Amino acid sequence: MNTLAGQNTLRQARRKRIDASHALDGDADRLVQYYREWAASYELDVEGEHYRGPSIVAELAGAVQAAYIGSERAAIAVLDAGCGTGLVGIELDHLGFRLIDGFDLCETMAEMARQTGTYRDVKGDVDLNRPLPDYSSASYDITVCCGVFTLGHVRPHGLRELARVTRPNGFVVVSTERSYAEATAFENEVQRFQEAGVLKPVQYLSNGRYIGEEDAHYWAYQVGHR
Ligand SMILES: C[S@@+](CC[C@H](N)C(=O)[O-])C[C@H]1O[C@@H](n2cnc3c(N)ncnc32)[C@H](O)[C@@H]1O
Repeated sequence: MNTLAGQNTLRQARRKRIDASHALDGDADRLVQYYREWAASYELDVEGEHYRGPSIVAELAGAVQAAYIGSERAAIAVLDAGCGTGLVGIELDHLGFRLIDGFDLCETMAEMARQTGTYRDVKGDVDLNRPLPDYSSASYDITVCCGVFTLGHVRPHGLRELARVTRPNGFVVVSTERSYAEATAFENEVQRFQEAGVLKPVQYLSNGRYIGEEDAHYWAYQVGHR
C-alpha cells in the first residue's frame, strides 16, 4: 500500500493494536492471550510507530553503569523485566552488556527474545504483578524495564520486586508512559519506597520520546539496603 490513504489505514491499524494492549486491566490471562496473538507482528507495529523506548532505556542503563558502577560492562549482570521480543536486550548488547537475563509474562514473546541470541537466560510465564520466586534477592547489578509500567499492564508496586532482585547500590531503570504515570500516581508509590529505604531516584528524563505521539518519563533508581 503506497498511497497516502493506504499508509494512514496501516497506521490506524497499528495504533488500534497498541491502544488495545492498554485496555487489558492488568489481567494476566488477557495479557498473555493478547501478546501471544500480537507477537509475530509486534516489532513491525512498534517500529512503524518509531518506538524509541528500548534504545533510551538501554542508553540510560549504560550511562548509570559508566557514572556509578564503572566495572567492565561485559561483567555487569542485567535483568530485562518484561523483555517482550528482546528489543531492549539487543540495544544493551550493542552497548557492550553481555550478561543479560530476561523474563516475560507471555511465553511466546519470551521465546522470541530467546531467539535473538542476546540473552543468557529468558523465562516465560513470569508475572511482575506478583512476587518473583524464581529470582533471588540481590541477583543483578542493573534491572531494566521498558514498556511494562504501561496502562493495563503492571501496577507501580511491581517496582518493589525489581528493587528486591537488584543488589543494594545497584540500579533499576524504567520507562513509564506519561499517561500511565498520571493515571497511577507512580511518583507517590516511588515516594513511599524512598521513605522506606527501598530505592531513591538518581536520574530522571521527563517527557522523552517514546512511541508515536506518546511521551514517557525515564527513571533510574538506586537500590537501598531494605
Ligand atoms: C509493550 S511490551 C514491551 C516489551 C519490551 N520490553 C519492549 O520494550 O519491546 C510489554 C511486555 O510486557 C509483558 N507483560 C505484560 N504484563 C506483564 C506482567 N504482569 N509481568 C511480566 N510481563 C508482562 C508483555 O507480555 C509484553 O511482552
